[in-house]
Amino acid sequence: MEGAIIEGEATITLPDGTSAKLPFIRGTQGPPVIDIRSLFTQLGCLTLDPGYTSTSSCLSAITYTDGEKGELWYRGYAIEDLANNCTFLEVCYLLLYGELPNTAELERFENAVKNEMLIHMKLIDFYSSFQQGAHPMAIMVGVVGALSAFMHEDIDVLVAEQREAAAIRVLAKFPMMAAIAYRTAYGLPIVFPKKKFGYTENFLYMMFSDPMSDDFTVDPVVANALEKIFILHADHEQNASTSTVRIAGSSLANPYACVAAGIASLWGPMHGGANEAVLAMLDEVKSVENVDTYIAKAKNPNDSFRLMGFGHRVYKNHDPRNHIIQEIAHEVLTHLKCNKQDIFDLAIELEKKALSDDYFIKRKLFPNVDFYSGIVLEAIGIPRDMFTVIFALARVIGWMSQWHEMMSESVKKIGRPRQLYIGAQKRTVQPIELREGRESIHPEIINSPRKVWSPIKDKAAI
Ligand SMILES: CC(C)(COP(=O)(O)OP(=O)(O)OC[C@H]1O[C@@H](n2cnc3c(N)ncnc32)[C@H](O)[C@@H]1OP(=O)(O)O)[C@@H](O)C(=O)NCCC(=O)NCCS
Repeated sequence: MEGAIIEGEATITLPDGTSAKLPFIRGTQGPPVIDIRSLFTQLGCLTLDPGYTSTSSCLSAITYTDGEKGELWYRGYAIEDLANNCTFLEVCYLLLYGELPNTAELERFENAVKNEMLIHMKLIDFYSSFQQGAHPMAIMVGVVGALSAFMHEDIDVLVAEQREAAAIRVLAKFPMMAAIAYRTAYGLPIVFPKKKFGYTENFLYMMFSDPMSDDFTVDPVVANALEKIFILHADHEQNASTSTVRIAGSSLANPYACVAAGIASLWGPMHGGANEAVLAMLDEVKSVENVDTYIAKAKNPNDSFRLMGFGHRVYKNHDPRNHIIQEIAHEVLTHLKCNKQDIFDLAIELEKKALSDDYFIKRKLFPNVDFYSGIVLEAIGIPRDMFTVIFALARVIGWMSQWHEMMSESVKKIGRPRQLYIGAQKRTVQPIELREGRESIHPEIINSPRKVWSPIKDKAAI
């Protein structure tokens, strides 16, 4: 356990007086842990922690978050430092290899990524089976998983070089896969990447260029904003999607299939889907005059409404990414002179009111990175249902770096939590005529007519 020091032992005593001594371990930063791995063999009992609020699932040297101080580091570098001084691909290199690249290393890495940007034509065919109007995240779950059909036999996940190659491949192919998901959902023709563009520029080119026209210039303010958004989202230690990728990978599964699992986990509004939900919420709030009503709704325990983009499992002071994204939002809106200023002002007002409200203060609820990122993305012209795809694009290097780190461990353990069983005691099957009826299936399920697909939404018109 390199980087971890066993400081002593913690004693746990059960109600019957039996006790166990467990290693008390400190890492380089953050709260120490009690290593409970021998608890079951010593005492025959388990721990219970749904939602993992007090459980470290692994040792990791990649990302550090300090919820109280509001700090986020990648490999020891503060997120502000990286966002101000590095490109996204430098940060990718840092996450994957542990150090920032020098000029020659970066050039090699950029070339390796560029050489892998195209996807197999058969994979492009795959997109055509999705109906127009399909959510781009649904498409991404499918196509990224399908990458494993093209690249399975040639990957030995136990070989470090092959894992690194897989990480570079998925990082490189993601912009094209994401852009085609958008173009499929909106019924637009596909655009292929160009060697003359950098990573983020290529993504913008594949998203927004007109295949009939030779002119496409990248707006440097927009590219810089997107590059920073990618950096801010690149990793966030053991969040839901990363943990999903780790658990899927722990069975030695194909890494592209693991990334597809991560995308599925990211999709939900409690995780990566929050930036899409923030914009929907701001639309609903509509104007500054309605802010108090919505704050009251968010505080009402009988109302399921939550302030989207507020709160975080780890950050209980401020989200360090929020300040950077707020600056980016200001810069982009001023530069583009677009009509999103109203929504930005509304977000600022909502933030101000919530931050001075006892409910939010007491629960340490602060705006997270998603609160402003959606405003920037919308100003750039990215449709809302692509917001989480952008998040996935940025996070894929984090997923792959964490998977690579896990697979490098000398002792590999399949992720397999236990449970506290609260079901029936052992019983025997009764003949069907003696069983009591209980109407356990909801009648709506049985009686509902066969689902007819809703008419295709004409997104191309948007
Ligand atoms: C991020 C989030 C899932 C963290 O959840 P968590 O750590 O499990 O915290 P909980 O859901 O247990 O919330 C703790 C308390 O704060 C309240 N709370 C948390 N987030 C809230 C929000 N956004 N608006 C209103 N109340 C909120 C809960 O109702 C709960 O109140 P209670 O103690 O009276 O029951 C949660 O804050 C949330 O749903 N936020 C909105 C979605 C979002 O922005 N997600 C992106 C995360 S980067």
